[in-house]
Amino acid sequence: MSTIDYSQKIPNNVDLKSDKRLQRALEAWLPDYINWWREMGPTDFNENDVYLRTAVSVDRDGWANFDYVKMPDYRWGIFLTPTEPGGKIGFGDHMGEDVWQSVPGEYRNWLRRLIVTQGDTEPASVEQQRLLGLTAPSLYDMRNLFQVNVEEGRHLWAMVYLLHSSFGKDGREEAAELLERRSGNADHPRILTTFNEPCHDWLSFFCFTMFTDRDGKYQLLSLAESGFEPLARTTRFMLTEEAHHMFVGQTGIARVVRRTCEAMNENPDKTAEEMGVIPLETIQRYINYWASSSLDLFGAEVSSNSANFFGAGIKGRAYEQKNYDEHTALDQGYQLDRWSDGSITTEEVPLRNAMNEVLRDEYIKENEKGIDYWNRECEKAGNDFRFTYPNRRFNRKVGEWSGGFFHPNTGEPMTKEAYEAAALDWLPSQKEADYVKSLMVQVTAPGKFANWIAPPLRGINGQDVDFEYVKL
Ligand SMILES: [Fe+2]
Ligand SMILES: [Fe+2]
Repeated sequence: MSTIDYSQKIPNNVDLKSDKRLQRALEAWLPDYINWWREMGPTDFNENDVYLRTAVSVDRDGWANFDYVKMPDYRWGIFLTPTEPGGKIGFGDHMGEDVWQSVPGEYRNWLRRLIVTQGDTEPASVEQQRLLGLTAPSLYDMRNLFQVNVEEGRHLWAMVYLLHSSFGKDGREEAAELLERRSGNADHPRILTTFNEPCHDWLSFFCFTMFTDRDGKYQLLSLAESGFEPLARTTRFMLTEEAHHMFVGQTGIARVVRRTCEAMNENPDKTAEEMGVIPLETIQRYINYWASSSLDLFGAEVSSNSANFFGAGIKGRAYEQKNYDEHTALDQGYQLDRWSDGSITTEEVPLRNAMNEVLRDEYIKENEKGIDYWNRECEKAGNDFRFTYPNRRFNRKVGEWSGGFFHPNTGEPMTKEAYEAAALDWLPSQKEADYVKSLMVQVTAPGKFANWIAPPLRGINGQDVDFEYVKL
């Protein structure tokens, strides 16, 4: 049983009090963090009691403790999964050597960059979602939004702990910068493009938690294999929290689909707009937009960085130990489609250089299961509509496919003219986005839901659906 020291300002299981310097540095960062939260976190709800889970232990059953909390009082703590004595680096050029407890000098810059990039996404998503409480379709959904927000805040803490504890002065500077960049700010944006896209409505929020948070999951899975043990232990614990975020996305979309199908069955002569629900075609276009944008987060198909990170043993594949037998990835190739001079060719590239694509493959497989899940909602309702996951070449802004135009279903190349003529069918139009936004009304009576979304099948932590999840 790992013990959490609650006598300290910052709950932790890393024996923070034994390192006075680090403790003081983090305690100095804390008020800046709270200021950031008040300025850029959820608007209007900081004085309300929210039924939230707080990590109080990293043990299997003990990490989720539910109670009413005001968000600024949330105990953002530092939790690492237990260390495994005698741990060895599991892949790359240092395979079989002892894991590192401190940052190896030669990999310091790479590791810092990985940690800062991961860390930057956490507050970015909170900023993107800060207005959504005002249009929450129910108290249940509002609570889930705030749960995601406080946990992304905690994930920022997790990365800041690593920066403060392992990277000296430049780590402290990076930690300060993480509170200064702002999502969507032209002068000082967040690092990755997707995390600068606005998330103004709940359909976007559900797509974000489904597709963008899942990119986070796969990045964390690959970092959970890291030879730098504090990073591996931190990310393993973050993954337990991340699962709920994707649950919110997957079930959120399913509930929108269920409600639309139900309304269509009740009123076969009316349009979705007349009934105030979201057309299934619109949902598909939102999926196309967020799925393609999230695919960009994995980076270029062929990447010397990915080869370096793997070779160094700092970033592995998802489930490196569980799913692979061979862990050097040397003398192996990966068959990759490439886009050059207006045609698609297949080329074998060294496996290490294709690690971004290997991770993307795994990510796509999981997303496709989510699509099947939504299609079962259509099937159950007797509706013939079927959702599809867009081809990975579609609408890309990063990497190999960003240089061309590709069909979302077949992945076939298209001329710019043909693509642009069809793009309105594939991506949300302004009019459509305005319509979705027009449906966003705040519903605050316990157990009541906005007209465009069905209630969940069950409540949170065994509570009823009509439980008062937020006290307004
Ligand atoms: Fe996160
Ligand atoms: Fe998340």
